[in-house]
Amino acid sequence: MKRGAMKILFVASEAYPLVKTGGLGDVLYSLPHALHDRGADIRLVLPGYRALLRQLGQMRILGWFDVRGAEGMVGARILQARHPDFAFPLWVVDCPPLFDREGNPYVDAGGQDWPDNAERFAVFARVAALLAQDALELGWQPAVVHAHDWQTGLVAAFLADQPLRPKTVFTIHNLAYGGYFPSSDFVRLQLPSHWWSPEGAEFHGGFSMLKAGIVYADAVTTVSPGYAEEICTSEFGYGLDGLLLSRQYKLHGILNGIDTRIWNPSTDPHLPAHYSMSRIQPGKRRNKQALLERFLPQPDEAALQAPLLGLVGRLVEQKGIDWVLAAIPVLLAETDVRLVLLGSGQAMYEQKFTRLAKQHPQRVFVEIGYDEPLAHQIEAGADLFLMPSRFEPCGLNQMYSLRYGTPPVVFKTGGLADTVVDATEATLQDGSATGFVFDVADVAAFLDAIRRALGLYRQPAQWRRLQQTGMRQSFDWSESAGRYLALYST
Ligand code: ADP
Ligand code: GLC
Repeated sequence: MKRGAMKILFVASEAYPLVKTGGLGDVLYSLPHALHDRGADIRLVLPGYRALLRQLGQMRILGWFDVRGAEGMVGARILQARHPDFAFPLWVVDCPPLFDREGNPYVDAGGQDWPDNAERFAVFARVAALLAQDALELGWQPAVVHAHDWQTGLVAAFLADQPLRPKTVFTIHNLAYGGYFPSSDFVRLQLPSHWWSPEGAEFHGGFSMLKAGIVYADAVTTVSPGYAEEICTSEFGYGLDGLLLSRQYKLHGILNGIDTRIWNPSTDPHLPAHYSMSRIQPGKRRNKQALLERFLPQPDEAALQAPLLGLVGRLVEQKGIDWVLAAIPVLLAETDVRLVLLGSGQAMYEQKFTRLAKQHPQRVFVEIGYDEPLAHQIEAGADLFLMPSRFEPCGLNQMYSLRYGTPPVVFKTGGLADTVVDATEATLQDGSATGFVFDVADVAAFLDAIRRALGLYRQPAQWRRLQQTGMRQSFDWSESAGRYLALYST
């Protein structure tokens, strides 16, 4: 590390490949690495979940803190780990009563929020704020603390009135998750009373950790320019639009990048065959065949020829899953399409897709669960990628699908609108088209977009051009990492 390199402390609740529930995890791997590659000196601090500690092996104890929890003081050890996938040290907040448990970082086995989430993430934020002030006297004082989503919203708040503090940056990855807790948690956690105000963290009789991040951070970012505008409106603002509008002077929309080393169809270790923009076939077809073989013992030529729609994602309302459920039976009746879906989320959606697959065993293939290799295989093996999100702060899957030559069908919102160019007569002609965008929020418009896509799929030359334009897009971090560095320095 060069002397004088900018020191940046990342604070987050997940990071690929150690803990990941969605795109947040991907970004917490790829962004700090992009900054590291540009000479920044990074530490990433994560909660010591059981699943994380299991993967880290030998760790060094840097020190410990006693901080206020819900019932009194809570002890936390700070561990430092080196992991082969990370080019910089990881710091782990080891506090067994809060984090050493089986399962998901945020919810229990039944999908309910952990009842002590307020305490878990308040303690995590208190510790992160102490680390940001080098309270362990490690001789590593960051210039910037960059915290992500509601789980870390209190970090900037705890730092706000400290005299010798680093600059604080808070990124909203999804405003729909506000980290709302009742006033009783506020009292039990002995949070500073001056936060209890409409100008502070108070929100409708309780408090919001996300709001605290927005109020107290020096700079607030979100993950696409489109979403930065949308969250200042009542339609997308979840009651925080007024606040965000009044903080527009410090609000920045910076598009996420993707890690092109991990998401690269010409090197991806999860794929049975590799391909690139200059030679898409036969590699892509081999991926399609392997994907079909996972679900059908012997896919015939008809199955290989038929358009295969793919979907990977959280099965929640945000993702327009109900539109997919309504559209698929119509498409099955009027065309020869197949669908392959990988996802998990709301039980109702999981059950409906499982039932659909049972009704159409030759044409609808559903895998409920979380499966990183299969996610890559679907991006590569499908012909068309469905992502009709009602709102999408950025979205990574559509960028992965573009890079894998699998044109996406998306709703015109947030990061989807910022990254996909609709195939119209004009954009097909000037060679800028990359996918299919619909702009009316209903099933009919979604179906129309898929039908347009299927029409073009039957025209191989046009289709190849569309795939190639998508694959040529540069969604790596080069530009956005530069924008973050500029923001940290101002
Ligand atoms: P979000 O963060 O809202 O879920 P993104 O498109 O930003 O949406 O990122 C989703 C990430 O999570 C992608 O890397 C995607 O491949 C991954 N993902 C989502 N669901 C699954 C799943 N069931 N199995 C494997 N990966 C998944
Ligand atoms: C959130 C958003 C998603 C975004 C991801 C990474 O999970 O829902 O749109 O891509 O964070 O920023």
